[in-house]
Amino acid sequence: MSQRLTIALSKGRILDDTLPLLEQAGIVPAEDPGKSRKLVLETNHEDVQFVIVRATDVPTYVEYGGADLGVCGKDVLMEHGGQGLYEPLDLRIARCRLMVAGRPGAHLQPGRLRIATKFVNISRRYFAERGRQVELIKLYGSMELAPLVGMADLIVDLVDTGNTLRANGLEPLEHIADISSRLVVNKASMKVKHQRIKALVEQLRGAVATRSA
Ligand code: ATP
Ligand code: PRP
Repeated sequence: MSQRLTIALSKGRILDDTLPLLEQAGIVPAEDPGKSRKLVLETNHEDVQFVIVRATDVPTYVEYGGADLGVCGKDVLMEHGGQGLYEPLDLRIARCRLMVAGRPGAHLQPGRLRIATKFVNISRRYFAERGRQVELIKLYGSMELAPLVGMADLIVDLVDTGNTLRANGLEPLEHIADISSRLVVNKASMKVKHQRIKALVEQLRGAVATRSA
């Protein structure tokens, strides 16, 4: 394995919040990844490149060695399962909560509940651990709509300000997990490129500490 580092990032809020941390660690892309259509981006370090992937694909790229490192939400990591990955650092960005939400009191109804979510694995585990019978409906976005059109009793989704829920007459009902973005590392890369990765992790740890202070 070459000592070149490939870092998987996703466009949107993770990119916006991760670039300042990487910059503080001395790594700056050669062009603005938010604007470029390129999927592989060089940086000011000859031995570091970024690859731009879908947020939900970051753990998969890192697991299969398409990237040595990546940044993704804890939600995405929990849903993926985290196999083949180390998670050495909480970057403390893109913070929100994973919640069960619905109309007031919807979670107290007896019997089997219909849950609409893109987090089917997390939801299956969460309700099974509580011995609650549910039917899961997989969606890819706009989960808040499902209870409004009578398709589901509850949703499992991310909540930050609560504005999206409020705007749709829903409320957060049960807290599943606090979410923030994590640095993930391919297990084989961690062995083979140990010094290089360890140095980067420590630089990022310093950047996170400065930013959160
Ligand atoms: P994909 O493109 O794969 O569908 P996505 O559209 O969910 O992913 P983003 O909306 O950029 O991608 O979210 C990326 C991550 O940011 C999420 O996995 C989560 O960890 C975090 N996140 C999502 N929504 C919020 C929010 N409202 N406030 C803070 N963090 C959030
Ligand atoms: C996320 C999430 C909620 C919303 C919550 O969606 O899926 O819909 O944010 O944030 P709030 O509590 O501050 O309203 P996002 O804005 O990422 O839209 P998307 O899922 O369609 O990408």
